[in-house]
Amino acid sequence: MKKKVIILGSGIAATTVAFFLQDKCDVTIVTKGALSDNNSALAQGGVAAAVGPNDTAQAHYEDTLTAGAQLNDPDASQILVNEGAEIIRELIKMGVPFDRLGDGSIDYGMEGAHHHPRILHAGGDQTGKYVLEFLQRKLSSKVKIEANTTAVEIFPEDNKAKILVIANKQFRTIEADFLVIATGGIGQLFPVTSNDKTITGDGIALAKRAGAELADMEFIQFHPTLLNKPGSSLLISEAVRGDGARLVNKSGEYFMADVHPDKDLAPRFVVAREITNQFLKGEEVFLDISTVQNFRARFPYISRSLDKAWIDSTLIPVKPGAHFFMGGVKTDLNARTTLGNIYAVGEVARTGVHGANRLASNSLLEGLVFARRAAQDIIARPQKDENYQTEKQEPTIYKQNLPTLEELKNRAWESIGIIRRPEKIREFLAWLEEFDDSVPNANRIDFEISNLILISKEIARAALARPVSIGAHYIEEEND
Ligand code: SIN
Repeated sequence: MKKKVIILGSGIAATTVAFFLQDKCDVTIVTKGALSDNNSALAQGGVAAAVGPNDTAQAHYEDTLTAGAQLNDPDASQILVNEGAEIIRELIKMGVPFDRLGDGSIDYGMEGAHHHPRILHAGGDQTGKYVLEFLQRKLSSKVKIEANTTAVEIFPEDNKAKILVIANKQFRTIEADFLVIATGGIGQLFPVTSNDKTITGDGIALAKRAGAELADMEFIQFHPTLLNKPGSSLLISEAVRGDGARLVNKSGEYFMADVHPDKDLAPRFVVAREITNQFLKGEEVFLDISTVQNFRARFPYISRSLDKAWIDSTLIPVKPGAHFFMGGVKTDLNARTTLGNIYAVGEVARTGVHGANRLASNSLLEGLVFARRAAQDIIARPQKDENYQTEKQEPTIYKQNLPTLEELKNRAWESIGIIRRPEKIREFLAWLEEFDDSVPNANRIDFEISNLILISKEIARAALARPVSIGAHYIEEEND
């Protein structure tokens, strides 16, 4: 009998695990929304890999560690850059349509904190979507897909994993030899985010309730440039600044010139913080794209989205928003969590490759590399228990006292957002303690709120435990 593997999620990491397992295992993808509801499908920036002329994996490694404030796991980061280059070469050979120059060679782009042009793009600013859809097309019909199905609780057992899911208001228990969590990060904890609407930290909360270890929970990356328009969450890629766009305030001042030697391409946390300071001074901030050559051709998705938002000026109003979570479920070099048969891959996992701040375009790469490792590890492991004893798992679900999502988001923004103050975090934590997050909830929105509460508590505690600023974690000292 083939090993049974359940994969939760639908982004690059989930799809890559399924791709590498499909011939050897019985694979089911279980996802809360549609197959396209994930952050990978929104990833504009590209995928970084040392595959171009004169580049080396060692140079990519050094940039990764510098961006991560040296808090990265060195072994995991070496694997990222070395195996990352290998996988990208394979994807090029397989025919992923990465953007090319007139002479047919790959067009390698630059992004903040890279010291070599090593970002591959596809469809201009639609890299995640192109790579994801390419891999989805490579999945055979043997891979079963259960969309609109939410995993609400997981039960690790010695030789298998049990997952309680809900679909069409009906609970069901699924058993598998291995479970791979690939549900993405936590962006929807904040009122402003580049993340998909489904990204509510579910996998992290599920894993924590089941007893898995979490790590690096204080490190959240805020992207400096999201469109500043009510109701919009459009990301204006860093690649636009890589192509020469500049941040200015409403007085026309080019403020990044005085803040950091890398100016607009300074680390994201530096730029996001400076924009926040500009807002605190009563300024507005714009991305001036008048100097970008062929903007529409280079950034077709952003251009179309700006048209839809009625932005027809070369001064695009921008604000920072939550973008990427460096923390998450702690995993080893083979993507195993601290729970026997349960793996975590992609943004939900804390592999250690990002340290205190992720280097631009390293996230799709992380998803690909550690998803392949998880698949290889699963294939290599013995199948211990061939005879499932299907035992129905009763949901431990009840109606909880919960705040509204809006209130949680606003309080999270003020307390564990871009600029943190210990007394604000303590106040937030005391407020969070009023709410019980220990069991899932049958109602979808309450389920997501209780997951975000659990995660907020972990972030707040981790932020207080690190009283000194580093990387994306900026905390004002007690008497500032
Ligand atoms: C961007 O395009 O600015 C985001 C890409 C990334 O986060 O790596």
